[in-house]
Amino acid sequence: MKVTVVGAGAVGATCAENIARKQLVEEVVLLDIKEGLAEGKAMDMMQTATLNSFDTKIIGSTNDYSATADSSVVVITSGIPRKPGMTREELIGTNAGIVKSVTDNILKYSPNTILIVISNPMDTMTYLSAKASGLPKEKVIGMGGILDSSRFKFRLSEAIGCSPNDLQGVVIGGHGDTTMIPLARHATYNSSPVSNFLSPERLDQVVSDTMVGGATLTKLIGTSAWYAPGAAGAYLVESIVRDQKKLFPCCVYLDGEYGQKDICIGVPVVVGKNGWEKVVDFKLNDDEQGKFNASADAVRKMNSVLSEMKLV
Ligand code: 2OP
Repeated sequence: MKVTVVGAGAVGATCAENIARKQLVEEVVLLDIKEGLAEGKAMDMMQTATLNSFDTKIIGSTNDYSATADSSVVVITSGIPRKPGMTREELIGTNAGIVKSVTDNILKYSPNTILIVISNPMDTMTYLSAKASGLPKEKVIGMGGILDSSRFKFRLSEAIGCSPNDLQGVVIGGHGDTTMIPLARHATYNSSPVSNFLSPERLDQVVSDTMVGGATLTKLIGTSAWYAPGAAGAYLVESIVRDQKKLFPCCVYLDGEYGQKDICIGVPVVVGKNGWEKVVDFKLNDDEQGKFNASADAVRKMNSVLSEMKLV
């Protein structure tokens, strides 16, 4: 089996490395527009094969999409990252054209692939890929909710003083500083609601720290984060190629679920070999549904830029 990662920047390279180290597939193709970058990073990673004990072959390519032919899954990370102070939404002008052209090129060589979109603004880029590819809706998945949920569990673990691996927590809605919705009411510390361990004020702080998780890192590092985004992409690939039927939030095309239509936004889904296989209804209360509707309004407003750019 073959997986392609488009974009050999920090997120793409980290995603490719995680896929190789977990030996999820026989071959990973890393493709970038910058001459030699993907080949160089692929070669560097291959030189860790004996150190990290993996047999996955990583192949680099400078914009030669024929190398990506017959990929089962393609991860799109292309585009410019955030600089400190920038929102993900400000990237749309540059990234929309890039993601459209990557989607078109990928489909020429892998017409039945499953597309995973990481490029920002992620919800709108997923919608663009869904429209531009013409793939069945189950085969286009935006990766944001897994990352945001992982950050949520990290923040909860700091607050409670426990292992992040003993926590369950889900973030739905858009992948934006103001649009994501950490579902605090549903989060548990090994089945016990986290509200049994944290005051309402501390839990509110965890929620707001989670929402600005990406911006906090961009300020510290000077560019977008990559370890968790890359690992989250590989985690999603794993659920597909191993048909794990994992339940986590992803950005998918809704057709009435959660009260929304004609939009890609984060909701809990089950992911397996066919892509996202079903949306799971978490039975939101009025407050959560209100936040979800507001998040969808913001994402829809961003999507309207795509029609202004004549991309959909
Ligand atoms: C993040 O939240 C890159 O959007 C990604 O770090």
